[in-house]
Amino acid sequence: MTLRLGVVLPTYNERGNLRTMVERLDKALTGIGWEVIVVDDNSPDGTADEARSLAQEDSRVRVIQRIGRRGLSSAAIEGMCATAAPVVAVMDADHQHDPALLPGMLAAIESGDYDLAYASRFAEGASTEAWGRPDRVKASNLANRIANKVTGVELTDPMSGFFMLPTRILRADAHRLSGVGFKILLDILATVDAPLRIKEFPLNFAARADGESKLDRTVVFEFLVGLYDKWLGRWIPTRFALFGTIGGLGVVVHMAVLAVVLNLFGAKFLVSHYPKEVAFIAGQTTAALVAMTFNFVLNNELTYADKRLRGFGPLIAGWARFALTCAFGLLANIGAATALVRLGFHPYPAALVGIVLGSVWNFALSSKFVWGKY
Ligand code: GDD
Ligand code: MN
Repeated sequence: MTLRLGVVLPTYNERGNLRTMVERLDKALTGIGWEVIVVDDNSPDGTADEARSLAQEDSRVRVIQRIGRRGLSSAAIEGMCATAAPVVAVMDADHQHDPALLPGMLAAIESGDYDLAYASRFAEGASTEAWGRPDRVKASNLANRIANKVTGVELTDPMSGFFMLPTRILRADAHRLSGVGFKILLDILATVDAPLRIKEFPLNFAARADGESKLDRTVVFEFLVGLYDKWLGRWIPTRFALFGTIGGLGVVVHMAVLAVVLNLFGAKFLVSHYPKEVAFIAGQTTAALVAMTFNFVLNNELTYADKRLRGFGPLIAGWARFALTCAFGLLANIGAATALVRLGFHPYPAALVGIVLGSVWNFALSSKFVWGKY
């Protein structure tokens, strides 16, 4: 049978869903030449092993196991680029997307009348009842409204994770996709220049079969990050922008803690009178430690959400590495600023140069030594 359709299933901890998913694909796609590409980010539950054992039984199943990487979008892109089929679909592996829609979507694309077919949770005739997540429906609605404004394409569900298109369209622009976050369809819509003829399929969005959602915590945040990446990311890289913003918040935290400590030392109930210097040293040290910890936690949660350190041991080790990195960053900062002042620069611009230099240093080193192996 000629290969007509590639189905990409990005997975993270979906071991329990894979076998039944392949069975459902087989049923839905009778008479159609298809293959499925499981793109797994080295899930701890052994999803990739499960996919490989399925592949030994059925060679239409293929596996890409990515090491040291995370991200729904980039996984989807790599999967889509890995098929030789003329048409490719992306869908969730957790049974929230109904494979029965695939033949209709394929017919739409193969007819040549449409460049993109996608399943919408919010179209006429669709439903999100079974999902059981009114909070997510609300978040999606908000994101959708912004997305429609930004892309200029009016879709009822631009955040959908279930869509299909000719592979040549994808390949033509794959190098320009952002690949950050989870909004891969939105990314394609915003990137492909040619106006796409789009067909919408109402979807009864089901509840997840096995396991839990990976997108819950950060859907809206990820969405905003994705927008930033698309529009400004090429001038100031997204991660650096996040890192810098959090650093700026860190300065505010630092000043607040410093003020608290200085006030404590000035307080009447402290009988002995410490010299001002002692108070300042104590305050500055406490403030720096608190601000640095604050930065570490926020960067771990947001900037490096995809590589988040978890568990007591890794967190402590990460914190220590971050502290070390920042200490050197501070030296670089002070060293450069002092050198400039000696050269006759005004102190404030010199300080600014020091700060920027220190930040770049902190960013570069911590992305390597705290959050990255690769
Ligand atoms: N390879 C890889 N890497 N796969 C991932 C990752 C990752 O970092 N994160 C999630 N996935 C896989 C999941 O295993 C699942 O098959 C699919 O991507 C969707 O992830 P879910 O965790 O099930 O997302 P959801 O159901 O909460 O989110 C739904 O709504 C989003 C829009 O609000 C999905 O339909 C998404 O596709 C959709 O974008
Ligand atoms: Mn899901």
